[in-house]
Amino acid sequence: MRVGLLTGGGDCPGLNAVIRAVVRTGAAEYGYEFTGFRDGWRGPLEPDVMPLDVQAVRGILPRGGTILGTSRTNPLSANATADGRTGMERIKDNLANLGVDALIAIGGEDTLGVAARLHEDGVKVVGVPKTIDNDLGATDYTFGFDTAVNIAMEAIDRLHTTAESHHRALIVEVMGRNAGWIALHAGMAGGANVILIPEQPFDIEQVCGWVEHRFQTRYAPIVVVAEGAHPKSGTEIAGGQRDAFGHARFGGVGHMLASEIEKRTGKEARVAVLGHIQRGGTPTAFDRVLATRFGAHAIRAVADGAFGAMVALRGTDIVRVPLAVATSELKLVPPERYAEAEVFFG
Ligand code: F6P
Repeated sequence: MRVGLLTGGGDCPGLNAVIRAVVRTGAAEYGYEFTGFRDGWRGPLEPDVMPLDVQAVRGILPRGGTILGTSRTNPLSANATADGRTGMERIKDNLANLGVDALIAIGGEDTLGVAARLHEDGVKVVGVPKTIDNDLGATDYTFGFDTAVNIAMEAIDRLHTTAESHHRALIVEVMGRNAGWIALHAGMAGGANVILIPEQPFDIEQVCGWVEHRFQTRYAPIVVVAEGAHPKSGTEIAGGQRDAFGHARFGGVGHMLASEIEKRTGKEARVAVLGHIQRGGTPTAFDRVLATRFGAHAIRAVADGAFGAMVALRGTDIVRVPLAVATSELKLVPPERYAEAEVFFG
């Protein structure tokens, strides 16, 4: 059996740990061979492949990023049609020509959405969920999230001391798209004075009230804001650019908040946009273990013929869920989780 492997969408710490676990488990337990596809769905579309054996995955467990490369190429878009064949047809032809019997797709909502469609078209696919945003409905956690939260928490710890020295407010903008998980967890862990998430549109007057109260207690406020957060009266702040799956590129809410806070409170406010720092570097122990377990269970799913499934974490168990279900709904922060954090605002 020859198994193809690809990583799609935004990279995240732990991707290499999955690749290693798939290849090591697949070679040791089942004698499988592997083909690496470069740069997400671009790999099977072109095709663009790289050799992938046990030697190739030595030493990659702690390494961030992905040795396969990634992209947001969308084979379902009209742009993917070439020589009279749709993107899906090109992928199916290339898999057949390369002798790839099954495919493991490691990705988020978009990558796994394509995997679900390929499965409907008869391709043998298994999915592995990844995203720092932790917004996939079918799994309790995705790997990459814990690392991103720890990076953001460390940044908040550092910003506390400099904010206090200068008696200024510091706004920390974190990633997460339409989900506030990174902001919520990093903000709670870092003792933020205000946490703003997309699920709970904010009232700028109330935010300024919390900021002023914090100054009155002789401490400097730290406001953690998710990139997708927006005021009650407005919409999300995103740039004009969209990716191949139609997602807007977020960014700007931190600066908007800082200028409103300065204007309304008369206090100095500065912004730290953490951006891709949250996605880079070595994964935490939690993410290495989760990624390794996902990889081992994904290749077992291939061996069992459980195609159309995605591996998922439920409690402490790794389970299989249908890809179609896994990609059907985003997991957002429920109001009661936000309420737990709100007690500490101000
Ligand atoms: O989905 C992961 C993520 O890091 C989001 O949190 C963020 O909005 C987006 O990807 C950024 O994408 P890019 O790397 O294409 O700028």
